[in-house]
Amino acid sequence: MQTNSPVLPDLYAVIGHPIEHSKSPLIHAAFAQATHQNLEYERILAPLNGFKETIQIMQAKGYKGANVTVPFKFEAFQLATQLTERAHDAGAVNTLTFNPEGIIGDNTDGAGLVRDIEQNLQTTIAGKRVLLIGAGGAAEGVLHPVLAQSPALLVISNRTLDKALSMVKKVEDQGDYRFVTVNAHAFEDLAGQQFDIVINATSTGLSDNSLPIPASIFAPGALAYDMMYGKETAFMSLARQTGAQVSDGLGMLVEQAAEAFYVWRGVRPLTKDVMLQIRAL
Ligand code: ATR
Repeated sequence: MQTNSPVLPDLYAVIGHPIEHSKSPLIHAAFAQATHQNLEYERILAPLNGFKETIQIMQAKGYKGANVTVPFKFEAFQLATQLTERAHDAGAVNTLTFNPEGIIGDNTDGAGLVRDIEQNLQTTIAGKRVLLIGAGGAAEGVLHPVLAQSPALLVISNRTLDKALSMVKKVEDQGDYRFVTVNAHAFEDLAGQQFDIVINATSTGLSDNSLPIPASIFAPGALAYDMMYGKETAFMSLARQTGAQVSDGLGMLVEQAAEAFYVWRGVRPLTKDVMLQIRAL
């Protein structure tokens, strides 16, 4: 009698520094189980000066792909031999696919945010006044996917105004979103303006710092979205006091993972149950 040898699982991992807090292995394991995909997904701590070597070792071991998190998203962008358009736009890579021709760099963060806002939170971006707070990597990563939804107005506000201004200039120079008004404003110039969707892409939630933004910026029925997850940030509390709909970034985390899973496996996992599972941890 002939016995079939078991098919070994395809290998994936999330790479970062630190990495022990990452929920990605749990999320991908749940997706794999739900979609009957034979894969293993682990955490890899890369030394701060050893990202490239870590990737080379993974390729040699036959890994199929990797997610990349802080602080390596820019190095991943540089290391990729081919970039998707959205990775190019973001200037950063969070999803790598290893194949015989090289390394494909993609970025699923913006797609994850947009999907969470539109599908899970049932908020259409088209035609809305959107405020994006922050001008670091997190803000850059979601800028184009948000613009692609055609808001009426997108204002970028940042402590260091120059960074917001240069993001606006880049968008203007590219000329892809001529029907969206895109501006940069200092925090103190936000008074008197109102927004339907306010996205906090700063790292202030990590340090418990509050943002000097007036509560009056939240239009009636506004959505306040903090890309941070795992706690109630000062931004979320402020927005809640105004009666805004408030969300943390857990949905974005799960949706960016689902998008990466789709890139690798060609199957789009359902996310609702996984979100509840991760939320309950
Ligand atoms: P990330 O990859 O998380 O975006 P980053 O590139 O270091 O990290 O960007 C951090 C963002 O949070 C920036 O927009 C930063 O503002 P500056 O450009 O002025 O540094 C913002 N940020 C961090 N701490 C802040 C604080 N205490 N108040 C306001 N903005 C803050």
